[in-house]
Amino acid sequence: MFPRRTQVGIVGAGPAGLTLSHLLHLEGIDSVVLESRSRTEIEATLRAGVLEQGTVDLLRDCGAGERMLREGSVHHGIELRFDGRGHRIPLSELTGGRAITLYAQHEVIRDLVQVRLASGGTIVFEAANVSLHDFDSAKPWIGFSVAGVANELACDFIVGCDGFHGVSRTSVPAGARTEFSRTYPFGWFGILVKAPPYAPELIYAHHARGFSLVSTRSHDVQRLYFQCDPADAVANWPDGRIWNELDARLATEEAWDLYRGPIFQKGIIQMRSFVVEPMQFGSLFLAGDAAHIVPPTGAKGLNLAVADVQVLADALADFYGQGSRDALNRYSVTALERIWAAEHFSWWMTSMLHRFDDADPMQRRLQIAQLNQVAHSRALQTALAESYVGLPLPVRTVVGEPSRRGGRSVSIRAQP
Ligand code: FAD
Ligand code: DHB
Repeated sequence: MFPRRTQVGIVGAGPAGLTLSHLLHLEGIDSVVLESRSRTEIEATLRAGVLEQGTVDLLRDCGAGERMLREGSVHHGIELRFDGRGHRIPLSELTGGRAITLYAQHEVIRDLVQVRLASGGTIVFEAANVSLHDFDSAKPWIGFSVAGVANELACDFIVGCDGFHGVSRTSVPAGARTEFSRTYPFGWFGILVKAPPYAPELIYAHHARGFSLVSTRSHDVQRLYFQCDPADAVANWPDGRIWNELDARLATEEAWDLYRGPIFQKGIIQMRSFVVEPMQFGSLFLAGDAAHIVPPTGAKGLNLAVADVQVLADALADFYGQGSRDALNRYSVTALERIWAAEHFSWWMTSMLHRFDDADPMQRRLQIAQLNQVAHSRALQTALAESYVGLPLPVRTVVGEPSRRGGRSVSIRAQP
């Protein structure tokens, strides 16, 4: 019923797994994606909203970006708000025209699933008891069951794209991995509201009561977040309390009126920084949240997941095309350099913008001093903007024949 063999077995149909499967397909490499949830569930899970320029370019070039280009909203700046005043960071002006696109992660998932299935890809939904075997050898295999029936999938490589709580990372023997972790003493309360956009660009606001963020999803759905106790419960936050809190944290010297539209979704998100090293163990590779987590303040998680699999797809193409393992052997080192840069950026944004309950008055003043410097220094704004729109992938030059990736103009070989 299900394939018994493939070249690359992929665990998890999130942004990492689906993008990888599609990039491999465009390189003529076969893969099977095993996903524990149903298609309906993965297409309905609300998460990220900010796509970096590089993510947008990749989705467009690999043929999964048509709806994103039509329905997503391109932003050329963000606002930092503190002490009752807003300060615009002109992202595009500072980065040679690069921008971000607001387009919900579950819409990206819908587009990728659609494009994978339309091109004959195999995604096994509701795959239970996924287990990884013999990945310290050249003949790894994945065990899984569907509707109570056990199956085995033999592959050349396994890629764990199953998120932070998946099985892949923890399948690597504890002694063979080093984990770096930090849990923050706060979380984010996120809501979706039926309302027209509150602002033309995203607002990241620092306030003595805590951080808040004004984002958007469409012309009539808005996404708002505010810092909360991670142990708090949604039930403690009736609509009126949420609006009062947001009004207090977003207040400005000028008139600022938050339209109290109907709130139709509420949830609390934990905040963590996490990295595992290395991201390869024998024939098993890790990508995306399976290998690293960032606090959401930098909007980096989905984008990092997509960047990882771009590097990995190129390395696998090298292996199947030229028989070279060099890029595969470098995957972990290459990906980790960008990951640590994003970890630093996300930590910096988080530290600068949130309220720390244990901070003394000195620390609070230092935090405001930092925000003032960013608001007034073009050099600091440029550094922020470069990371926010997305650091470049390792420089690539076109070698030999053009890439088969649906017209990606840059590709295919990392410079030595
Ligand atoms: P996931 O999306 O977690 O996908 C993993 C998949 O594997 C899931 O479908 C899961 O069901 C499946 N799976 C798990 N275990 C198994 C198993 N045992 N067997 C088979 N399948 C399994 N990032 C940004 O870039 N920009 C943002 O603006 C942003 N905002 C965010 C806001 C919020 C509220 C949250 C929570 C996150 C945000 N992120 C953002 C982070 C982003 O959502 C994640 O980094 C991203 O989903 C990672 O993708 P992934 O494919 O690695 O993992
Ligand atoms: C959104 C999420 C983020 O983490 C962020 O930094 C900006 C926007 C969002 O969901 O829209």
